[in-house]
Amino acid sequence: MTNGGLAEAVSSHLPRLTDLRHRLHRIPELSFQEHETAAAVRAELDRLGIPYVAGIEGAATGTVAWIGDPAKPCVALRADIDALPIVEQTGVPYASTHAGRMHACGHDGHTTMLLGAAAVLKAMERDLPVCVKFVWQPAEEGGGGGRVMCEAGVLDGRVGPKASAVFGLHGWPGLPVGTVATKPGALLAATDSFAATFVGRGCHGAFPHMGVDPIVTACEAVLNLQQFVSRELDPTDQGVVTVGKVYAGTATNIIPDEATIEGTARTLHPAARAAIQASIRRRCQGIAAANNCQVRFAWTDGYPPTINDPAMADYVAATAKRALGPDRYLTATRASMGGEDFAYYLEQVPGCFFLVGVERPGAPAGPPLHSDRFDFADAAIPVGVRMFVELATNFTKA
Ligand code: NI
Repeated sequence: MTNGGLAEAVSSHLPRLTDLRHRLHRIPELSFQEHETAAAVRAELDRLGIPYVAGIEGAATGTVAWIGDPAKPCVALRADIDALPIVEQTGVPYASTHAGRMHACGHDGHTTMLLGAAAVLKAMERDLPVCVKFVWQPAEEGGGGGRVMCEAGVLDGRVGPKASAVFGLHGWPGLPVGTVATKPGALLAATDSFAATFVGRGCHGAFPHMGVDPIVTACEAVLNLQQFVSRELDPTDQGVVTVGKVYAGTATNIIPDEATIEGTARTLHPAARAAIQASIRRRCQGIAAANNCQVRFAWTDGYPPTINDPAMADYVAATAKRALGPDRYLTATRASMGGEDFAYYLEQVPGCFFLVGVERPGAPAGPPLHSDRFDFADAAIPVGVRMFVELATNFTKA
């Protein structure tokens, strides 16, 4: 199909896709509970005559479909479908009807764009040079649905044909509608977390020498942990340690038995990830020992860093320049310290995660992701559809 023909094919679906996005926006659901959303996705696939697998091992709300010749190279395209526990304040006519839940990360837009790509590609099915696999994944927002889907075999050939490459996208405030950005290598960070409880011995606040103060110890740790980034990590690399929770005590004049800190540790490479874990643990233990406290330390692995295959990132860049215009592709110069469970797919198969602009032209900077006022920009729908379609149809020429 010509460039113009494809643009026309995409725009012919836009009224329906916009309506679909609004319908999904009304029914936001939390991780692994996306039953109405999954039903809406499957109803669209039924309408398009695309067979699908409804429910994956460990992810009942996941949906996987494929079209084209399974003997050809298989390109997997993924969208996340879940929402957040936020009370919506956008005031849009299609605002959430589910109390306390909201599509504040634009996954309603991602789900819609992948359905749009399925509609366009289905019409070209007989001429497709590849097999295209569509993955609607639950529980990106902390549930690790991506890991569940990968472990259940959505890429390795146990659920549909084995994927040769995988692509995913995220709507991105700060990038204008119509543009796409990504970078080779690390694009997003690992999202690990930790908790340290310093155990001292409680006593009267007027007589600190009678006990062991865990609060002073915890405070020392909060400050000291910053030295991983400033003194241990290569200054040209990126890392974050944020202690987001500190709790202890019951009264101003009592030294409690325990004080706890909890935080997130963000890194971009496996080596830095191992180093930050060892450092935080060692620093907490050392500071506890210096202050005569015990420490209970827990580390929780989050998502791995999202690391794009360099050749696939180049392919996304070339595709965006050709399909959208040479000035519509922007190289992301630095990684973002946010995280994504698309990382699990990239651990199995070469691929690329890219960002699609959702900043409305001429409008003041919109609310950020996870804001109670964020609403996905409908004008970005054709951009995501076009990218998904082109990444599939040109893959064998890459
Ligand atoms: Ni998101």
